[in-house]
Amino acid sequence: MSPEIICYPGNERLGGQLGAALSCAIIDLESRHFPDGEFYFRVSGDVRGKSIVIACTLDRPNEKALGVYLLASTLRDLGASKIVLVAPYLAYMRQDRVFHSGEGVSARYFARFLSGALDALVTVDPHLHRIGALSDVYAIPTRVVHAAPAISRWIKSNVSLPFVIGPDSESAQWVSEIARDVDCPFVVLEKLRRGDRDIEVSLPAGTDVGGRQPILVDDIISTGRTMAEAAKHLLEVQSRTPICVGVHAVFAGDAHQQLLTAGASRVVTCDTIEHSTNEIDLTPWLAPAVAALL
Ligand code: R5P
Repeated sequence: MSPEIICYPGNERLGGQLGAALSCAIIDLESRHFPDGEFYFRVSGDVRGKSIVIACTLDRPNEKALGVYLLASTLRDLGASKIVLVAPYLAYMRQDRVFHSGEGVSARYFARFLSGALDALVTVDPHLHRIGALSDVYAIPTRVVHAAPAISRWIKSNVSLPFVIGPDSESAQWVSEIARDVDCPFVVLEKLRRGDRDIEVSLPAGTDVGGRQPILVDDIISTGRTMAEAAKHLLEVQSRTPICVGVHAVFAGDAHQQLLTAGASRVVTCDTIEHSTNEIDLTPWLAPAVAALL
């Protein structure tokens, strides 16, 4: 039986792109809130015995995660044989250990919650830092799509003489891969984070971007402080305005504007979260990862 796709409200573009790439039908979903704010979902058609893909990226996750849980449980009761969540942005990956006494590890709790409702998960570059692999916390099969090849392709077609820069040691993994694909130099900045919005970065001594175009690449742009501080620092020490490339356009508050004000000449993101800066389409990489799980 052919798999079908259901778009969580607000994820019609993601579901539509996947449906076209995988030649899957889209199932209609009636959704609304009861007057007290609780969810109401009604699935059209017959899902018995079918593999169903839920398309729902998980930025601003607190409400959506519960909605996905209820929708997946509904599909299960309606007889779906397999339920796969495609969440190009996977939330709750950054509280991946106890940093201060009294805290918990929300990455683990969130993984347990989703694993209880789904059969498989596909995502893009989850923030794996102190957790080595999704399988360390998710009890269901997962597939991780890497955005680096798509970012490399974008750089090759849009920037001549690039110099790739990672804002912190965590970015070294994808920045080095992108620089190798693009065949250009790269460097990783030293970052000191004192709080959510209090960050200091510096270019390692002796770095000279010369006449090249600096491109800052990070996985998540949330408050934008990391990218903004890096952009300001580059302007100060190298007199070059960088292009900022992010995988996940979280953009909390006015982060996008702050980044432009800090000196970014252009801000470009992958389409894991819908935003006006989305220029890099990951569907060609996402679709085969989903197909492998169906
Ligand atoms: C950090 O570990 C990540 O790779 C990003 O650098 C970070 O999440 C960016 O956050 P913000 O935009 O809030 O500085």
